[in-house]
Amino acid sequence: MSHLFEPLPMRDILLRNRLGVSPMCQYSCEDGFATDWHLVHLGSRAVGGAGLVVMEATAVTPEGRISDGDHGLWKDAQIEPLVRITRFIKEQGAAAGVQLAHAGRKASRSVPWKGDHELGIGTGGWPVVGPSAIAFAEGYQVPVALTSDGISEVIASFAAAARRALDAGFNFLELHAAHGYLLHSFLSPLSNHRQDEYGGTFARRCRIVIDTIRAIRQVWPDSLPLALRISASDWIDGGWEVEDSVALAKLVMSEGVDLIDCSSGGNASHAPIPVGANYQVPFAATIKRESGIATAAVGMITEAMQADAVIRTRQADIVFLARELLRDPYWPLHAARKLRVKTGSLIPQQYARAFPPKT
Ligand SMILES: Cc1cc2nc3c(=O)[nH]c(=O)nc-3n(C[C@H](O)[C@H](O)[C@H](O)COP(=O)(O)O)c2cc1C
Repeated sequence: MSHLFEPLPMRDILLRNRLGVSPMCQYSCEDGFATDWHLVHLGSRAVGGAGLVVMEATAVTPEGRISDGDHGLWKDAQIEPLVRITRFIKEQGAAAGVQLAHAGRKASRSVPWKGDHELGIGTGGWPVVGPSAIAFAEGYQVPVALTSDGISEVIASFAAAARRALDAGFNFLELHAAHGYLLHSFLSPLSNHRQDEYGGTFARRCRIVIDTIRAIRQVWPDSLPLALRISASDWIDGGWEVEDSVALAKLVMSEGVDLIDCSSGGNASHAPIPVGANYQVPFAATIKRESGIATAAVGMITEAMQADAVIRTRQADIVFLARELLRDPYWPLHAARKLRVKTGSLIPQQYARAFPPKT
């Protein structure tokens, strides 16, 4: 019996299975507008059988973009091209998610295939912000430390973007507090050296995340799920650790967060990360066990049996796949056959002749 293809209820929606498309920047926007690329890219993965399709890191302000190709929801005009995309995803039976983000001190870069270098001010870039004036690494701008007013503006931008996401038809929202971007850089003592109400103690480093969740929950309906992606560990002494993640999970549960999406790293360029199959799964397991919140496991999960085992052994409630779904958008359909699941409505009628029932 497969566990991966068990439906997952989340608030008022029911995910048809426990396979999510992990958010992946496509660097294919102009001025933050989604294009036909996004319709085909995200639509294919909904056709391919995922239960949840989460659109890429979506900037809540223009300065919060990693690159000038990033997607955004900082103005109402950006809603319109998304309506067709979310409608199509949902018509295929998947939930339509979007990840709201601010890149903080890791903003203002060229798109990866144009050299992955800093975009300086005057060469297409913009000033970047962070908790403290500490650059991420060599070749990155030194951020301007946000004032309290600046923090309030960022929080309001997250809430405004959440409202636009709702208007665009998304029914799942993820807040990006991982990978060294703005919210993670506030959480981690490596990058947050503030001594005001947004830094110093653990509780004060978490405050921007809590305030952002509260602001989002004001506009994001109680009927729809909200996830938080974190880097469960900075993988470095003196950094954010899994115990911090457990404590944060306990805090955000009572603020209306339904799922912790457990990634890691990204805030220390020199961290030794032991990348390998399932390497982040223990974070999802620990956070789920210690806090009681639902978790998503992500990272180097590529095989059907492997993904199924993560769910069967209750290490996570859902598995997110990224690169494997770039290699094969129909991975869930193949996985269903490998796990001998009754595919039924999972196979689009248009493709049924290619997926006859196994004898
Ligand atoms: C092309 C690409 C773009 C990505 N963009 C994002 C993103 O927008 N937001 C995010 O949280 N993670 C992003 N990631 C990380 C993935 O969501 C995922 O966590 C990571 O690739 C590990 O999963 P995998 O081993 O299945 O690829 C990206 C990864 C790739 C390969």
